[in-house]
Amino acid sequence: MSKRKIILDCDPGQDDAIAILLALASSEIDLLSLTAVAGNVGLERTEWNARAVVELAGATTPVHAGCPRPLVRAPVHAAHIHGETGIAGATLTPPRRPLAAGHAVDHIRDTLRAHAPGEITLVAIGPLTNLACALVQAPDIAGRVREIVLMGGAIGLGNTTPAAEFNIYADPHAAAVVFNSGAPIVMVPLDLTHQVLATSERIGAVRALGNEAGRQVAAILDAYPKHTHFGSDGGPLHDPCAVAWLLWPELMGGKECRVDIETEGAHSLGRTLVEWRRQKRPANARVLDTVDADTLFRRLTERLARLP
Ligand code: RIB
Ligand code: CA
Repeated sequence: MSKRKIILDCDPGQDDAIAILLALASSEIDLLSLTAVAGNVGLERTEWNARAVVELAGATTPVHAGCPRPLVRAPVHAAHIHGETGIAGATLTPPRRPLAAGHAVDHIRDTLRAHAPGEITLVAIGPLTNLACALVQAPDIAGRVREIVLMGGAIGLGNTTPAAEFNIYADPHAAAVVFNSGAPIVMVPLDLTHQVLATSERIGAVRALGNEAGRQVAAILDAYPKHTHFGSDGGPLHDPCAVAWLLWPELMGGKECRVDIETEGAHSLGRTLVEWRRQKRPANARVLDTVDADTLFRRLTERLARLP
């Protein structure tokens, strides 16, 4: 099977860090580059974190810095969840390699234009500002991308407001550009990621790996916010689920739906309105809602064992 060439757009971010490590540990994926965006914390931290996590994995994947703020709304961050560093729990060595030259938006555009249509997959695990800017600047890339796999949104309740999930809430206008671009989209919403919980047993298996990656991931997961309302002692592992779709799509299920983004509501800003029950209009996304969490976590742990 040929490697899946991807650009990973991220806002590291505790779970982003684990998603990056999973991608780097998986030979099925050719991680061409990372593009950093403001989200969980400011861009100066997300790009630093992305470079530091790449070097934790012993890789040299280039990291491009992208947009430092959302398209329209006032910036919101999630340092109260991810810590002021953006990756609470981790002790990361300062990166030695500098940022790659070129803005992330230009890099996304140029990479898609330099490859044949259908060769490049964009995986987005933060606010969609970089992708939206690239799609506005170069609408032709919507027809060139193999698919956009994004962690974001919710069929049901949000996690940042009752209506909205963080990645969409942080830049709803960017999300509207992406979902209306015509690009093939796979949406990995909270309804799926809330089934993938970092329980103490699963964290113990990661820690038992005995390598640095296992130690860092276990420390991140130990620092993960514990949500009692999941009926478990673990928090949801959002972003690795987007990478897991590329690796093991057989572990997930969903359906083609129309998805619209609320960009104006006083209380519903950032809501993803998913036509889940009755598809009345043409679908613009494959929305996933089921996952074999046990197998996913076991395979994630096996992949982390491959890292230094
Ligand atoms: O709502 C979860 C998403 O928001 C994840 O991508 C997490 O990293 C935060 O960015
Ligand atoms: Ca993220």
